[in-house]
Amino acid sequence: MIRKITEYPEAVLGQVGKPVEKFDDELKALCDDMFETMYDAEGVGLAAPQIGLNQRLFVMDCDGIKLVAANPEIIETEGEQSGQEGCLSVGKVPAVVIRPMKAKLRAQDADGNWFEREAEGYAARAFMHETDHCNGKLFIDHLPKMRRDMVVKSFKKRKNW
Ligand code: NI
Repeated sequence: MIRKITEYPEAVLGQVGKPVEKFDDELKALCDDMFETMYDAEGVGLAAPQIGLNQRLFVMDCDGIKLVAANPEIIETEGEQSGQEGCLSVGKVPAVVIRPMKAKLRAQDADGNWFEREAEGYAARAFMHETDHCNGKLFIDHLPKMRRDMVVKSFKKRKNW
């Protein structure tokens, strides 16, 4: 089922998510919905707060890496990259964000098994962007105030506020 995407500045997007504790059929159905919603919106990642759920959970399918990550943490980073980033909750308005080039993710899959996964470039960016969502942080929080205001302004304009 396609869920409604939560948009900035809804409060849930700024809240630290609660840990996922139950790895049951309900969680698997939720992940299916999240993938469906993400593909429908032509995104490469989607976190639970983006469908209004205050939980530490995301799905992604980016640069050949498709996974479910519950209780995600970025445990290592290396280098630096500068690249365009956008978010389904901010109307995909793009902005350049500086982030590490490589990132190692530690998380649980839909069955509750812990795993670690390394990524580079765009996929590493997705790891960090989606983990940020689980911590109540948006990509615009990484921008200097003036550029953040510009992104918000053009998002509001697109939405015809
Ligand atoms: Ni996002």
